[in-house]
Amino acid sequence: MRATVFGTGYVGLVTGTCLAEVGHQVTCVDVDEAKVAGLRNGIVPIFEPGLAPMVLANHGAGRLDFTTDAAAAIKGAEVIFIAVGTPPDEDGSADLQYVLAVAATVGRHLSDPVVVVNKSTVPVGTADKVRAAISAELAARGADVRFEVVSNPEFLKEGAAVNDCMRPDRIVLGARSATAVETMKRLYAPFTRSHERFVVMDERSAELTKYAANAMLATKISFMNEMANIAERVGADIEQVRQGIGSDPRIGYHFIYPGAGYGGSCFPKDVQALERTARRHGYQAGLLQAVEAVNDRQKHKLAELALRHFGGDIAGKTFAVWGLAFKPNTDDMREAASRSLLADLWQAGAKVRAYDPEAMAETRRLFGGRADLVLCEDPSDTLEGADALVLVTEWKAFWSPDFPALARTLRERVVFDGRNVWDPVQVEAAGLAYYGIGRGRSLQAGPGAQDAH
Ligand code: UDX
Repeated sequence: MRATVFGTGYVGLVTGTCLAEVGHQVTCVDVDEAKVAGLRNGIVPIFEPGLAPMVLANHGAGRLDFTTDAAAAIKGAEVIFIAVGTPPDEDGSADLQYVLAVAATVGRHLSDPVVVVNKSTVPVGTADKVRAAISAELAARGADVRFEVVSNPEFLKEGAAVNDCMRPDRIVLGARSATAVETMKRLYAPFTRSHERFVVMDERSAELTKYAANAMLATKISFMNEMANIAERVGADIEQVRQGIGSDPRIGYHFIYPGAGYGGSCFPKDVQALERTARRHGYQAGLLQAVEAVNDRQKHKLAELALRHFGGDIAGKTFAVWGLAFKPNTDDMREAASRSLLADLWQAGAKVRAYDPEAMAETRRLFGGRADLVLCEDPSDTLEGADALVLVTEWKAFWSPDFPALARTLRERVVFDGRNVWDPVQVEAAGLAYYGIGRGRSLQAGPGAQDAH
């Protein structure tokens, strides 16, 4: 089938590439000429495991093309995906200007019947707005072309997006017409060979499904961070609590890892946008507000632990920081916990020596040129002259450091484990002080510890 994808960000590029991979003829459209030129030359602007070779192979095979020419890309397409950004506007609502601009473009150039698919995460009711924007342009030029709008939210995880796209858990389709559903089922058939994965519903429910999924996951994380903060104060270890509750199948082990807060392009933005949507409809979503508040606070947790350890004064201290991306296997630093940590450390007069396996270019782009930041070549390079070590992102490369060597190198012999990946007993046996998230020992010397006895 012939598919056109507007937007070559994470979602658009991964979706377009995977559709080409299963044999469809795909054109990806972007307004960014440099990006399009790069993609045509095999330069993939994001790091996503498995994506670059797949782009190259499908582009080489002639199934995947990139263009800035929207009119040509719209002509003859059976399905048109809208996968452009929906950044938060000033009040945290999703900004629909890019989505609606694509819809208008489609209306201006449409000449054959088509299914227009909303892939971007958009507020409930956007399918109607997209339909209206296309209709208005068709009417303006007196054209009468049949089109359907389908809401088809993506559930891709960064770092595993290609795999999630090739092997989806479910494909949610929100549509009014049976023919649109049939077209989408044909398009996605190669991804659902082993068993039926379509969940068909109305458009508004599909739009809300995406927000509900992300809000639920964000809630699990904030809930665990709240438990961790309680555990710390009562002298309990959240890691043992986590295993204790995860073994209940109703709760499950997934997504209950406490840490330095959730980041990324989805959770913070979507929780906020859903809360604003609820408010606009006269409902105060207290739970969502709390999820957000707990997370905002959690992002300052590591700096708080460091300040506590050093008696409130870290001016002039040097911190080695391992991990800058918002999670492993990506170079994305949007809303990353590392950014709050760096800001807090710098604010308190400390210096940073940082390393991330993939996000160094992004770190340079964001913070290059600062005198209080040294960008390092590898984990051991960060330790040169460092007083303390902070792990922010749990890349596999950081899981088993040589703790005795760390104890010899770190001037103040202390580590802060923002993802609870190290064994406190092992770390302390090497002669280092250990701080984790929600591990009662972090407050052993503090007043909270007394409560536990
Ligand atoms: C998320 C959703 O998982 C995906 O379904 C949706 O379509 C887009 O948003 P992504 O942002 O790529 O995907 O990242 P994810 O792997 O979900 O992690 C989000 C954040 O939560 C990371 O910062 C991670 O460190 C944090 N996290 C995750 C925790 O702190 N604890 C956990 O138990 C799980």
